[in-house]
Amino acid sequence: MPRALILGGAGFIGYQLAARLSSEGYALTLVDDLSRGRQDKELEALCARPGVTMVRADLTRPDALAELPRQWDGVYMLAAVVGVRNVETDPARVVRTNTLALMHLLDWFVPESGRPVPQCLRPPDGRRPRHSGAIASRASAREPLPRLRR
Ligand SMILES: NC(=O)c1ccc[n+]([C@@H]2O[C@H](COP(=O)([O-])OP(=O)(O)OC[C@H]3O[C@@H](n4cnc5c(N)ncnc54)[C@H](O)[C@@H]3O)[C@@H](O)[C@H]2O)c1
Repeated sequence: MPRALILGGAGFIGYQLAARLSSEGYALTLVDDLSRGRQDKELEALCARPGVTMVRADLTRPDALAELPRQWDGVYMLAAVVGVRNVETDPARVVRTNTLALMHLLDWFVPESGRPVPQCLRPPDGRRPRHSGAIASRASAREPLPRLRR
């Protein structure tokens, strides 16, 4: 069974991706601090599916990912503080959270040994992840963008 790690898995995009990957047979680990994502009925139902695990953790902490395995068929970074209101009212929090979470993720990929974790970001057969852009292409297939006229 392929395995995917979704950081920010309780958020808008993370949840949609998780629901889709789960329905395609992936085992999933979702990581979220629930600062914005909600533990609502939909998320509870998803987490009750076989192979789905929810980990509550603050990704700005350097040790947030320490207990997780490092071998995945896909790792999706969708944890962030987003939105114009957040940027306008508390830009320091936006920059701090988004920067630290990404830096710690990169440190986790490439531990102090300097050797990147193998096969973390692509399937074992070396193909590109099947789901990059999948949600966007499905949305645009439903509602094609109008063509610009010259
Ligand atoms: N929603 C869109 O239309 C859209 C479009 C393009 C790109 N994106 C990008 O996708 C990503 C996710 O966007 P979204 O709309 O799902 O946002 P969202 O706010 O719904 O989800 C972000 C998730 O990250 C979690 N989070 C925040 N700080 C955290 C921390 N310190 N530790 C752990 N979890 C934390 C939140 O609880 C939330 O569940 C962002 O990078 C955003 O810029 C979103």
